Amino acid sequence: STGIYKFYLDGQWRESTSGKAVSITNPSTRQTCFQVQACTQDEVNKMFDTAKVAQKAWAKTPLWKRAECLHKVAALMRQHAQPIADCLVKEVAKPAKDSLTEVIRSADLIDYTAEEGLRYLGEGQLLNSDSFPGNPRNKLCLVSKVPLGVVLAIPPFNYPVNLAVSKLAPALMAGNAVVLKPPTQGAVAGIHMLQCFHAAGLPAGLLSLATGRGSEIGDFLTMHPGVNCISFTGGDTGISISKKAGMVPLQMELGGKDVCIVCADADLTLAAKHIIKGGFSYSGQRCTAVKLVLVAESVADALVGEVAEGVKKLSVGMPENDCDITPVVSESSANFIEGLIMDAKEKGAVFVTGDYKREGNLIWPVLLDKVTRDMRLAWEEPFGPVLPIIRVSSPEEAVAHCNASKYGLQGCVFTKDINAAIAISDAMETGTVQVNSAPARGPDHFPFQGFRDSGIGSQGIRNSLSMMVKTKSTVINLE
Ligand code: G3H
Repeated sequence: STGIYKFYLDGQWRESTSGKAVSITNPSTRQTCFQVQACTQDEVNKMFDTAKVAQKAWAKTPLWKRAECLHKVAALMRQHAQPIADCLVKEVAKPAKDSLTEVIRSADLIDYTAEEGLRYLGEGQLLNSDSFPGNPRNKLCLVSKVPLGVVLAIPPFNYPVNLAVSKLAPALMAGNAVVLKPPTQGAVAGIHMLQCFHAAGLPAGLLSLATGRGSEIGDFLTMHPGVNCISFTGGDTGISISKKAGMVPLQMELGGKDVCIVCADADLTLAAKHIIKGGFSYSGQRCTAVKLVLVAESVADALVGEVAEGVKKLSVGMPENDCDITPVVSESSANFIEGLIMDAKEKGAVFVTGDYKREGNLIWPVLLDKVTRDMRLAWEEPFGPVLPIIRVSSPEEAVAHCNASKYGLQGCVFTKDINAAIAISDAMETGTVQVNSAPARGPDHFPFQGFRDSGIGSQGIRNSLSMMVKTKSTVINLE
C-alpha cells in the first residue's frame, strides 16, 4: 500500500483515483505525520448515491436494532481508545490524558444517544380535531418523527472524535445516513474512529468518510444536491456554508468569545481557578474557552494576582508529556494569535506574567491586564493561550460588552448573590450562562447552542436527536 490512509465508501476502505494525498502536519514537530487521500468529486457523488439507497433500508430498521448497533460501536471505541487517542496527540497536539478522555467521553455519548433515542424517537403524538373551533371530532392526527435523509457532518480539529460522534450518533439513531468530512488535522483519528462503526457492522453505504482539502471538496460537499442536512462545527466557514446551503436544515456551532464576569462579591479563589482552567485548557483552543475576563474594578487587583499565580504554574511543552500548554494547531494559527498579542502590546496592555514567548507553534501562556476596547483582543477569538482582562465599573457595563460581541455562545458569572446571577444571566444574550463555573459544553446531554454568529439550532443529545428528524403527520378521517 502507499502508506496513505484510505477513505471510506460503500462499506470499503479505498484509495482515491485522484492519486493525490493531503499531508497532516504534527503541530509539535512541524513534520508530516500522516497522509490521507484527496477524494475526487466523483467519489463524493458515489458517497451520496450509496447513502441515499442505504438510508431507505436503515430508516426501516427497528429502533432497538439501531440502538444495538450504536452500543457495539461504543464498546469498540472503548476497546480501541488508546490508538485513537494517540492520533489526537500527533495530529492536533492535544495532551495525552485529554485525548484519551475525549475518546471515552465519545463512547459514553454514543451509549447515551442510543438510550435517549429509544425513548425520544419511540414516542409520537395523537391529536383530536375537535379542540380547534368549529371542528367535530372526526379526524385523528398521528404525528411521528421521520429521518431527514443524508446528513453531512463536518466536525472541527479541536474535537475530531467527540464532535464527530456527537453528529454521527444522533443522525444514525434517527435513521439517517451520514457523509463525514473530518478536519484535515484530526482526519486519521476520524478514520480510526470510523473503523469502530465499520467493525460494528453498519450497513454498507450508510456511512462514508471523505478526506481532502476543504478548499477543493468543501463547497462541492456542502452544496451537493444529495445533502438533506448539514451539521457543522468550526469557525467562520460556517457562515459562508449557511449562505450557500440550499433548502436544508442546518445545525451549526461556530466561534465564541465567552466572557467571564467577576462581580465584586465573588469568591475570587473559585473564580481564578475556573478562569485558569477555562482560559488555558487545551491551550485555549475550545469554542467555550474563557476568552475575556470582565472584572469589577474593586476586586481586580486581587483577582489578577490569583490568576497570575495559577498561570505561572501551567506547564508548557509537548502533548506526549501531558503539558498544560501545548503547541497550537498550525503555524498560521500561531501567527494569528501572535498578531493579536502584538496589537494589545502596542496599545498598552499590561503583560502580567512576563513577556511574549514563542517557539515554533508553542506559545507560552499570556495574561493581559488593562485591556481596552480598541484592542483586537477585546472582540476577536484567539483560539490560543492568551487571556485578556478588562476592568469594569458595574455588571451592566460587563453585560453590555458581552452583548455587543458578534458571538453569543456561552458566558459565565461569578457572584455569591443568586438574584444578581439570575439577573445577569437573563441580560446576557448568549446560548448558555454558567453561574460560578467556567463555560463548557458538557455534560453532553445538556442543551448547547450559540446565539448570533455563534450558531444555528441546538445540540446536546436530546436536542441533536430532535434536529435529525422532521415531523410527519398522518391524518385519519373518520366517518
Ligand atoms: O470547541 C467547542 C466545543 O464544543 C467545546 O466543548 O466545552 O467540552 O470543551 P467543551
